[in-house]
Amino acid sequence: MTVSNLLFRALCACALPLTLATPAWAAEEPVLNLYSARHYQTDEALYSNFTKATGIKINRIEAGDEQLVERLKTEGAASPADVLLIVDAARLWQAEQLGLFLPVKSAVLEERIPAKYRDPAGNWYGMSYRARVIVYNKSKVNPADVASYEMLADPKNKGKICTRSGSHPYSLSLLGSEIAHLGPAKAETWAKGVVSNMARAPKGGDTDQIKAVAAGECAIALSNSYYYARLMRSTKPDELEIVAKTGVVWPNQAGNGTHVNISGAGVMKNAPHKENAIKFLEYLVSNDAQRHFADGNNEWPVVASAAVANPALDALGKFKVDPLPIATLGKNIADAQRLADRSGWK
Ligand SMILES: [Fe+2]
Repeated sequence: MTVSNLLFRALCACALPLTLATPAWAAEEPVLNLYSARHYQTDEALYSNFTKATGIKINRIEAGDEQLVERLKTEGAASPADVLLIVDAARLWQAEQLGLFLPVKSAVLEERIPAKYRDPAGNWYGMSYRARVIVYNKSKVNPADVASYEMLADPKNKGKICTRSGSHPYSLSLLGSEIAHLGPAKAETWAKGVVSNMARAPKGGDTDQIKAVAAGECAIALSNSYYYARLMRSTKPDELEIVAKTGVVWPNQAGNGTHVNISGAGVMKNAPHKENAIKFLEYLVSNDAQRHFADGNNEWPVVASAAVANPALDALGKFKVDPLPIATLGKNIADAQRLADRSGWK
């Protein structure tokens, strides 16, 4: 590290939030260390285009969300990480609570990303969004009986539901959303109703639930939209068979809208290359990068003008999105976990 770089780091440590007003003498080495929970083929183009445009080389550490957070905790102030890219409000909230992020301000990020998809303090910024949908077996369920998350607790759906663990971030974020909309008491009643309607104890990931629905082991499942879209785009006959046997509901279209969550990124508190990190986040909200980023995992870009031509998402159609800010989900995570425990959603 150069002397000017060290000096810059010492100076900017007390000047939060960081902005892009970098003095010329504080130029960083053209490197960005990215800790990413994403691992898609299309991301190669995403990263090489950034390097082409800026001359900044990206070093990537790819691992699961939890491993990355654990690694950052262990590395502490000596961490080489500049940017952390992970999924779901629950995990972003956890990283924020651990003090891993440096709040940053950027006119580009604030202008391009709708306020509901970013942290008001600038700890993290949403880059794409996904929906929590209801998948049902076409021969066993009338979609009108699963038109909302709340209907999953209706006694008429007894013995039909399969889900992943209630402690998984995807479940906790949905519970956090129910707490926000219904209040804690009704949300708990709802969660207990969902548990009493389960066909089996929670196990596996979202794709496992979709498969179980198609196989008739249960009839209704919750899943993130990209898992279903991935099956729709499959060339494997057995996966296309699963799609043929199942349908998708956008929940709560007559009410608040469907619960969505984000893939998000933030600059690390101890980032050796903070300016490069902000440049990278700003690059990710350019129209081109948004298309690559969202399409790589069959998600929607947070920047509305960056329309994605994705055959699976196009086939699923448009839907009303719950306007609840993602940061609200994070704030409700601890309550959501207590609620999951009390309701027996293991
Ligand atoms: Fe996932």
